[in-house]
Formats: sequence, structure tokens, C-alpha cells
Amino acid sequence: MTLPTDRRSVFHHLPPDHVGRSLRADVLAGLTASPKTLPSKWFYDERGSGLFEQITELPEYYPTRAEREVLELFAEEIAAASPAEILIELGSGSSRKTPLLLDALKAAGSLRRYVAVDVSESALLDAGNALAPAFPDLELHAVTADFETQLHLLPRQGHRMVAFLGGTIGNFEPAARARFLADIHELLGSAGGSLLLGTDLVKSPRVLVPAYADADGVTADFNRNVLRVLNTELGADFDVEAFEHVAVWRPREEWIEMRLRASRPMRVHLPGVNLDIRFHDGEELRTEISAKFRVGGVAEELQGAGFSVLGQWTDRQNRYALTLADAM
Ligand code: SAH
Ligand code: TRP
Repeated sequence: MTLPTDRRSVFHHLPPDHVGRSLRADVLAGLTASPKTLPSKWFYDERGSGLFEQITELPEYYPTRAEREVLELFAEEIAAASPAEILIELGSGSSRKTPLLLDALKAAGSLRRYVAVDVSESALLDAGNALAPAFPDLELHAVTADFETQLHLLPRQGHRMVAFLGGTIGNFEPAARARFLADIHELLGSAGGSLLLGTDLVKSPRVLVPAYADADGVTADFNRNVLRVLNTELGADFDVEAFEHVAVWRPREEWIEMRLRASRPMRVHLPGVNLDIRFHDGEELRTEISAKFRVGGVAEELQGAGFSVLGQWTDRQNRYALTLADAM
């Protein structure tokens, strides 16, 4: 922790019992479904956020580097097309790529505030401490909130740019994704603004699969971390290492699916939700999807949510796209 100065503020919007209540509801619904599932925001406790940071530096995990390249090449153009006063970043994590955008928005004229929104308080504090020295004139707001349910708590005044980077939009199911884009449109609607959306693009599974199943097993550890979270928060007794990490490309849906496969029959007791579940040998629990996109499809989805597309940019190898869309 560092002391907030007058230009730095931390806002806690997650209810104090967020982990308790919201996690319990998600776990009850997901683990009694067939097939079993767990929603992905529960990966990101302090350990999980740290593991994700390691993922972004793996040789196999190209999306972070590709997105950084797009920003290096085009942040200036993006900022000129939408010179915002407030940058709101959803799921900002370590905010490592954000300085490229902040610099460009500053140069374009009117930026005064950066609002970083994440469920992970540890990631927000680390990011804020790293950014502050480089941006002494900027108001920095770190907001702990769930972007799926708490968008209405974010700034509704001023010309805003909402950045949603990292390909995190791909972690939504298609129907939830459409609702989410419409919610962002609604947030921006009142005073105008734009959405900058990062999407990983469809490519060969020979490139995609290793990005989600690295040789060192960091992604496997990250995936299994969700079971540790249940052990810690709900007193569950998952034998974490008895689950194998599985990443498969689903060509019809065009998404990578992450699963945890039981390596033997198991019985798991979850006192926090008063639940006993069984896994048969080889049973797979679905933990995450990571949808891959085509630039035309991204534009169509944004238009469907009420946006008009201002521009689309990709890295030199066409692996990853940023799309800027206006809410008006
Ligand atoms: N934008 C960063 C991090 C991407 S990882 C990058 O590009 O590297 C996804 C981030 O979203 C994590 O930091 C995670 O804590 C956050 N997150 C996941 N679900 C969330 C939710 N429902 N509400 C708010 N933040 C969420
Ligand atoms: N938003 C990231 C992505 O889809 C999240 C992610 C990367 C992830 N690797 C993962 C989620 C492994 C679960 C498991 O690329």
C-alpha cells in the first residue's frame, strides 16, 4: 500500500461479502450443472493475478505482445479519433499496456482521469503504484468492482473512452457478450464516448492451443488455481493436483475451451455451500472459454449493440485486433 495523494483514489464497490455470496451462488449453479462449469472471474485472487502476469510473458502466449504492438503502432491514431477526458479500463489487471494509450490520449489533448476497474484489489494497487510516478498530473482511480454487474457505478459524465483489452471479451459466452456490449453502450450513451475493444483473432490451432497449454505448465497452474480458491473460500477439499489441465480448440464455435479433467474418481466436499459432488474418472469440468474473432464479426457485434465503428487495427502478423467504436 502507498498513501493516496489528492490525485489518487481507491473506490471499493464490491460488497464486503462479494466473495462469500457471489462465489457461493456461482459454485452451486456451476457444480450441480451437467457438464460441471465454473465462471472465470474466480481465477483472479492474488495468486491467480500473479500467475496471469506470468502467462503474459510466456513465449507461447502471443496475445499480450500482439496487443502491445497494435498500441505501439496505432495508439496515436486511436487517441486522435476519440480524444477522451476519462479513460475507463475494464479488467485492467496490471495495466502494463495502458501507458501507451495514456500517453497518446494526453498528447491528443484533454485526458484528465484514468479509472482502472478490476475484481482483483492486489492487481489494482500494484498497477496504481507502478503508474503514478509516470503520470503525476493525471487523476488515478482504482475501482474494485465486478464489470458484469456494476457498470452503472462508473463515471457517467464527460467524454469517456472505455478500454476492454486483453481479449477478455472472448471469455464471455456469445449471449452474455452481446448483453455486455449493450451495457457498455448504455453506460456511454448519456454523455458520449467510445469503446476500444481488444480481440484475439482466429488462427491455426497449432498457434492457439499452445498459448493456452504452455510447456512449463503455468497455464495449467492458473487453471487449477480456481480449485484452490474454492478450497480457501469455501473450505472445499479438492485434491488440486489430481486435475489435469485441458485446452481444446472448438472449430465450430471458434473458441478455446479450458477444462480440468479428473485423473481418478473423486468425491469433493464443499462445506461452504453444503454440497457433496462426485467426479468420475476422466470427467471434465469446464472453467473458461476464450473466443477468437474475425475483424468483420467484431464490427457486426458492435453495430448490433448500437455502436458505430470508427476504426480497426491489427498487428503486423494479423494475430490480434483493436476496434474503436463510437457510442453515438
Ligand atoms: N487487461 C489485462 C488483464 C487481462 S486478464 C491485460 O490485457 O493483460 C482479465 C482481467 O479481468 C483480470 O485482471 C481479472 O481480475 C479481471 N476480471 C475478470 N472478471 C472480472 C469481472 N467480472 N469484473 C472485473 N474484473 C474482472
Ligand atoms: N483473457 C485471457 C485470454 O482469454 C485469459 C486467459 C489466458 C486464460 N490464459 C488463460 C483463462 C488460461 C483461463 C485459462 O486469453
